[in-house]
Amino acid sequence: MNYEAKVKELCEGKKAFIRTFGCQLNENDSEKLAGMLQTMGYVISDDIRTADLVLLNTCAIRENAEKKTFGAVGLLKNLKEKNPALIVVMAGCMTGETHVMDKLRATYCHVDIVLGSNNIDAFPRLLYTYLYEKERVFDTEYAGVLPEGLPTYRQDKFRASVPVMYGCNNFCAYCIVPYVRGRERSRKAADIVREVETLRDNGYMEVMLLGQNVNSYQGGGDAFARLLQQVSDTGIPRIRFMTSHPKDISDAVLDVMASRDNICKALHLPVQAGNNRVLAAMNRRYTREKYLSIVEKAREKMPDIVLTTDIIVGFPGETNEEFADTISLLKAVRYDMIFSFIFSPRQGTPAANMADVLTAEEKKRNFDQLLQVQNQISKEKNLQLADKILPVLVEGRSKTDATMMTGRTDGGKIVHFKGDDGLCGRIVDVQIQTPKTWNLQGEIVCHSN
Ligand code: SAH
Ligand code: SF4
Ligand code: F3S
Repeated sequence: MNYEAKVKELCEGKKAFIRTFGCQLNENDSEKLAGMLQTMGYVISDDIRTADLVLLNTCAIRENAEKKTFGAVGLLKNLKEKNPALIVVMAGCMTGETHVMDKLRATYCHVDIVLGSNNIDAFPRLLYTYLYEKERVFDTEYAGVLPEGLPTYRQDKFRASVPVMYGCNNFCAYCIVPYVRGRERSRKAADIVREVETLRDNGYMEVMLLGQNVNSYQGGGDAFARLLQQVSDTGIPRIRFMTSHPKDISDAVLDVMASRDNICKALHLPVQAGNNRVLAAMNRRYTREKYLSIVEKAREKMPDIVLTTDIIVGFPGETNEEFADTISLLKAVRYDMIFSFIFSPRQGTPAANMADVLTAEEKKRNFDQLLQVQNQISKEKNLQLADKILPVLVEGRSKTDATMMTGRTDGGKIVHFKGDDGLCGRIVDVQIQTPKTWNLQGEIVCHSN
C-alpha cells in the first residue's frame, strides 16, 4: 500500500507544526519527519495555533526535559478542544520509557499517534491507520533495518547533520539513551558518503557526522577513521563530528583530523568527571590519566584544536573532595567551552538507585563554582585569538543585533562582524578584534572563496 499517497488524498495543503526537544540526533529525525509530512502533502508551518497536525519530538535525557515536554503536551489539550480535528503526534526518546507510555495511554487521551525514535520511517503507515481506521495508534517497534533515503526537510541551507550510527551500547550508569534508543547500529559507509556528496552538490558547506559514540562506528577499531577519510575525500569544505567517547577514540582518528584541511580542528570529548572513583562508578571505562593523555596527543598533533566537554555535577556519592578533581581537570585541560549538568536521576538506570552524599544546595554551589572557573578560562582562551585572522563560515544575521552577521570559525566559535546577506554560506576571513567569553567580534579582511 502506498500510505503516503492515501494520506495525501486527505491531507493535501494541511499545516504541520513540529517542536523538537533534545540533541542533534532528534533534530535530524525531525527533519526527516518533516520531509515525510511534505511528501504526504503537508505544509510545514511555524504557527502552532493554526496547525492541523502538531508533532512533539521528545527528549528523555534529564528530568527537566521531560517536564517541559509534559507541559507542552498539556497545552495541546486546549488546542485540541478548540479544534477537535487536530492530530497530535508524539515521537522521540520519551516514548521509549514504559512509565511515559502508560501515562500517555491513560491520561493524555488527546495524543493520537505515538511513534518511537527507532521507527520514524513507519510514520506514513501510522498516520494512515489513524486517519482511515480512526483509532489511536501506539507503535514504537524497530523494524530491524535502518531506513535509508527518507525525504529530509533541512532547516539550514549550508550546514547539515548526517547520522552515521544510531543507539548506544555503553550504559553509563546515569544515562537513559541506551534504554530508549537501543543498541548501536551503523549506517553503511557508502550510504553516508553518497549523502555527503549530494549535500556538497547542493551547495552545502559543512556536515556534522552524528552518533552517540562515533568512535565505535561499525564496532570500533579504525572504522571511524576510515569513514572520516572517505567523507573528507568528497571535498565538502567542513566536516565535524560528535560525540567521541574517550574510551574509544583512536590515534588514527586524531591523525586523519590532523592531516585533512576539511576536517575541523574541534573535538567534543565528554569527560563527565575528573575523579577516578566517580568515573568508575559512572561506568565510563577510562581514567583521568588516560583522558589527559588523549588531550595531550590531540594537542601535539593539532596545537590549535578547540576542545569542548560535558560535565555532570553531583553524581550520586560524589563528595566535595572528588568534585575538586573535576575543577582541577578543567584547569589542567583548559577547554574552550563546557556543557555542564546537575545529575538528574533517570528511572531504570543504575544511578537512579545510588545514594547521595551531597545535598541539592551543595551540588548547586559546586555547579556555580564550575561555571565560574570555566568562564574565566573561556574568556582567556578567546583573548588569545585577538588580532588573529580566522576563516569563518557565514550563517546569517546575528539574532541579537540585526546589523551584524554571524558565523563560525573552524573550531566552532561564534563570530559577529559587519557584512551583508550575500555572504551567507561563504567562508570569509575575519580579523578578531573583541574576544568575549561566549563569542568573538571582528571585521572581514577578505573573501577566501
Ligand atoms: N553520547 C554522549 C552524550 C549524550 S547525552 C556521550 O557519551 O558523551 C549528553 C550529555 O548529557 C552527557 O554527556 C552527560 O553529560 C549529560 N547527561 C546524560 N545523562 C544525564 C543525567 N542523568 N543527568 C545529568 N546529565 C546527564
Ligand atoms: Fe549515554 Fe554513555 Fe551512551 Fe553517551 S556513551 S549516550 S552518556 S550511555
Ligand atoms: Fe535526548 Fe534522546 Fe538525544 S534522550 S539527548 S533526544 S538521544
